[in-house]
Amino acid sequence: MTAQSQPWSQRFEQALHPAIARFNASIGFDLRLIEYDLTGSQAHARMLAKAGIISPAEAETLIQGLEQIRQEYRAGQFSPGVEAEDVHFAVERRLIELVGEVGKKLHTARSRNDQVGTDIRLYLRSEIDQILQQLQQWQRTLLDLAESHVETLIPGYTHLQRAQPLSLAHHLLAYVEMTQRDIERLQQIRQRVNVCPLGAGALAGTTFPIDRHYTAKLLGFREPYRNSLDAVSDRDFAIEFLCAASLIMVHLSRLAEEIILWASEEFAFVKLSDTCATGSSIMPQKKNPDVPELVRGKTGRVFGHLQALLVIMKGLPLAYNKDLQEDKEALFDAVDTVRACLEAMTILMAEGVVFQSERLAAAVAQDFANATDVADYLASKGVPFREAYNLVGRVVKTCLAQGKFLKDLTLEEWQALHPAFAADIYDRIAPRQVVAARNSYGGTGFDQVRQALATARDRLNDF
Ligand code: ARG
Repeated sequence: MTAQSQPWSQRFEQALHPAIARFNASIGFDLRLIEYDLTGSQAHARMLAKAGIISPAEAETLIQGLEQIRQEYRAGQFSPGVEAEDVHFAVERRLIELVGEVGKKLHTARSRNDQVGTDIRLYLRSEIDQILQQLQQWQRTLLDLAESHVETLIPGYTHLQRAQPLSLAHHLLAYVEMTQRDIERLQQIRQRVNVCPLGAGALAGTTFPIDRHYTAKLLGFREPYRNSLDAVSDRDFAIEFLCAASLIMVHLSRLAEEIILWASEEFAFVKLSDTCATGSSIMPQKKNPDVPELVRGKTGRVFGHLQALLVIMKGLPLAYNKDLQEDKEALFDAVDTVRACLEAMTILMAEGVVFQSERLAAAVAQDFANATDVADYLASKGVPFREAYNLVGRVVKTCLAQGKFLKDLTLEEWQALHPAFAADIYDRIAPRQVVAARNSYGGTGFDQVRQALATARDRLNDF
């Protein structure tokens, strides 16, 4: 590499050490931003002409040259190496090759600091829009599944101990609600991603009569950053995105964990279909839930990227510091991971998980998850709830000792326990009735679940 090889080389006597050039370069990962870089530069050129800083003909030449680079890139004919340093220099260098001297005017009234900030915001805005689409598709898949399982009962747990039975749809709808918060969070964050740093220059603004509102508008941003220092040093939007991405992963990972448990022989609530499960290299009988396991595992790397960016930012003096180059791989990997996990989980829930109705029906019939209902039964007949609760506790203890469930007690046995018991106790403690009776707002009662399904479906259709 010669001392002349970089745009900044005139000030230097010697060329960069090749290992340092490699260490310094971001071209190995920031080429992914090229389309946004080109679009940003085209808007900048247009603005320079509008402000009379370059001529309209010059702007046209720059815009066409940049468009040609876009075509070359799309055709796989643009692959700059480490000598380019980063995507911004790579584009500028190629532009000058293509259009000659006028190419050297593009960087007027701009710095790579405001340029890179513009690029990542454009990138992230576009990715957020696609993640929002995926989240809706995810909700749709869960809703479709929930609609076909309103009357399927599943044990509900607290402390991973059988608690009260649930409509399976209610369980799935809990994830629809989490996803709704994910969607709303991303929509809010998008507002703050969608602010334009272009024209902030290196840190202090520029001596040229630029029109920052115009470039912001051309690029579809809400507004320009109000403070040039903040514009080039802010990465709050990236951290907020990583927070939102982490929560999406938390939600996916919790369902993934449930699927893994449910697919075990101990639960056997679901079977995995062949399209979404894998085998073992040694144990011929195995069918493994690799998809939810990978989702659970990949959650860690997204949390890691959030942590990385928080740590990068915490001690940074204003304004741009090269540390900020580290934001990209974190963001890119978080975006890729979230998108891949959403896609895989959507396929898994659409076709990879088959609920075992008979097994589920047997599971809810063989436990004490109706004990609260016996206490509620007595309480509704005037017995103070705590007294009823204590009595049922004793009954459960006796049943356990005798290897019985509550449904196995005879009416005489019930009445010996308390005269308020009548023949309708059997209906009250049947699993279906136990679920149906929880008709309080937001509860698992079938009427509530049907309403919740309708609300969620409307919300999705209104999007
Ligand atoms: N590659 C750099 C980055 O990703 C671009 C900005 C460089 N700015 C600078 N002053 N060296 O952050």
